[in-house]
Amino acid sequence: MNPASLIPMAEAIPIHWAWFDVLLITTFAAHVLFMNALLGSAAIGLVQAARGQAGLIREVGMKLPPLLALTINLGVAPLLFLQVNYGNFDYVSSVLMGGWWLAVIFVLLYSYYGFYLYKFKYETMGKGLRLVLFGSSVLGLVYVGFMFSNNMTLMLRPEGWQPYFDGYGGFLNWRDPALYPRFLHMMVGALAVGGLFVALLGKHMKNDGFVETGMWWFIRATMVNLAVGVWFLMALPDKVMLAFMGGNLPATLTLVAGLASAGVLLYAGFRMEPMRVAGWAALTVFLMAFVRHWVRVLYLDPWFTMDSVPVTNQYGSFYLFLGFVAGGGALIAYMLKLYYKSRQGRA
Ligand code: HEM
Repeated sequence: MNPASLIPMAEAIPIHWAWFDVLLITTFAAHVLFMNALLGSAAIGLVQAARGQAGLIREVGMKLPPLLALTINLGVAPLLFLQVNYGNFDYVSSVLMGGWWLAVIFVLLYSYYGFYLYKFKYETMGKGLRLVLFGSSVLGLVYVGFMFSNNMTLMLRPEGWQPYFDGYGGFLNWRDPALYPRFLHMMVGALAVGGLFVALLGKHMKNDGFVETGMWWFIRATMVNLAVGVWFLMALPDKVMLAFMGGNLPATLTLVAGLASAGVLLYAGFRMEPMRVAGWAALTVFLMAFVRHWVRVLYLDPWFTMDSVPVTNQYGSFYLFLGFVAGGGALIAYMLKLYYKSRQGRA
C-alpha cells in the first residue's frame, strides 16, 4: 500500500502558516522548560532521598503541584498550534496509538493526585508510602513523556502506519531507531534543567547545599546530553541528518546556534552562576526546539509542505487573539505585582 494514500487532506488555514509555526515553537519551548523543572527536580529529589538526603525531596515536593499545572497549561497551547498546521499527521498517529495515547490522561491524573497527596499529607503519611507515591508519580510522568515522543515520531513516518493494516490496533513506534535517542535526549535534558531548578531554589532559600547539588546535576547531565545529541543526529534518516550538516543552510545554522548557546551555557555552569545559566538555558531550549521543528519539516518534506495548504486570509480572529494575549499578559503581570507586594507586607 502506498503510505501517501493514508495521509488525510490538509484543511485550509485562516492566516499564513508561519504564524502558527512560530507560536508552536515558542509555546513548546515554554512547555519543555516547565516539564524539565518538574520531572528533573522530582527525579533528582528521589535519587537524593535514596542516598539518605531527604531534605531536597521534601522542598521540591512542595513545588511540584503548581509546576505540573503550569506544564499542562503550557502543553495545551502547542497542542492546538500543532493540530492547526500538522493535524493531518498528528491526529492519525494519535488514533494509531489508541489506548496507549488515551491512557496519558489517566496516568497524568494519577501523578497529579500523587504529588498533591505528597504535599498536603506529608506529615500524616508513613515514610514508605510517601516514597512509593512519589516514585510512582515520577514514573507516570516518564510514561507521559514517552507517549509524546512516540506520537511526535510516529506522525512523521506514514510508512510506519502499516501495522494498523496488519491487524494491530494501538501500537507504538518501536521500529523507529530515532525514537530512543530522542526520548533519552528529552529525559537527560530534564535532569539538567531540573538540576538548575534545584540550584535556583537553593539560591532563593539561601541553601548552599541545594545550589551545589543542583549545579552538580546540571553540569553532568548537560555533558551527557551532548553525547546523546550526537547519537540522536546519527539515528535520523540520512537525508535529514545530512540536511543538518550543510545540506540545508537554515537548518544547519539553527543547529550551530543551538550548539554555540549550549557551549556558553556549560561554561556558565562551570562558573557556578545559576542565574546566568538560567538565561542561557532558556535560549538553548528555544533554539533546540527550533532544531526539533526542522527535524519535523525535513521528515515530512517528501509527503507534505506547508506551502501546499490553502490560506483563506481571514486575519480578524488572529488580531483578536493577539489583543487577548497582550491584555491577558498585562493582567497577569499586574496580578503578580500585587501578589509580591502583599507578600512583602506579610514578611
Ligand atoms: C506533565 C507531563 C508531561 C510530560 C512529562 C511531557 C513531556 C513531553 C516531551 C518529552 C515532549 C517531547 C516529545 C518529543 O518530541 O520526542 C513533549 C511534547 C509535547 N507536549 Fe508534553 N508532556 C507532558 C504533558 C503535556 C500535556 C498535558 C500536553 C497537552 C495538553 C502536552 C503537550 C505537548 C505537545 C503538543 C508536544 C509536542 C509539541 C511539538 O511537537 O511541537 N504535554 N512533552
